Amino acid sequence: MRSKMDNYMKLEIPGRSQNESFARVAVAAFASQLDPTLEELSDIKTVVSEAVTNAIIHGYVNEIGKIIIKARLRENNLVIEIIDFGIGIEDIEKAREPLYTSKPELERSGMGFTIIDKFMDQVEIASESSKGTTVKMVKNIEKKK
Ligand SMILES: Nc1ncnc2c1ncn2[C@@H]1O[C@H](COP(=O)(O)OP(=O)(O)OP(=O)(O)O)[C@@H](O)[C@H]1O
Ligand SMILES: [Mg+2]
Repeated sequence: MRSKMDNYMKLEIPGRSQNESFARVAVAAFASQLDPTLEELSDIKTVVSEAVTNAIIHGYVNEIGKIIIKARLRENNLVIEIIDFGIGIEDIEKAREPLYTSKPELERSGMGFTIIDKFMDQVEIASESSKGTTVKMVKNIEKKK
């Protein structure tokens, strides 16, 4: 639910690999308003890194496409969305399985979504063929007094 307390950010970047670290640090800096622990901050950086890397290498094939990163701070949690307009995911259930990768030749380990699931409290993946993918992730963070 939205409230007056919410704060948000929206970032648009081309899917160049140099921008992955920028996106990761930008979301972490925004999230620091909730006074997260170092472990929570590290989890946030890791999941942004995994989802943005996925958009860059899987979403867009032989092109550099647009990636939108949204984050919203709520009373007790942080909502992050990573959006691309690339090829989409055919079978989301299969993509979420540990060790599944469509790019074994690139030495991917197929653990990105598994790591995201482990570090976040809620994960929703929405995708449509040739339209793109949205990964929505929620991390609970207790507000400190
Ligand atoms: N944004 C995306 N657009 C299209 N396909 C995607 C996207 N994100 C993930 N996928 C598909 O889901 C699969 C699983 O993703 P996951 O991040 O778990 O593993 P990986 O990227 O292949 O390997 P790793 O993350 O360990 O390097 C990918 O191999 C790819 O087929
Ligand atoms: Mg991955």
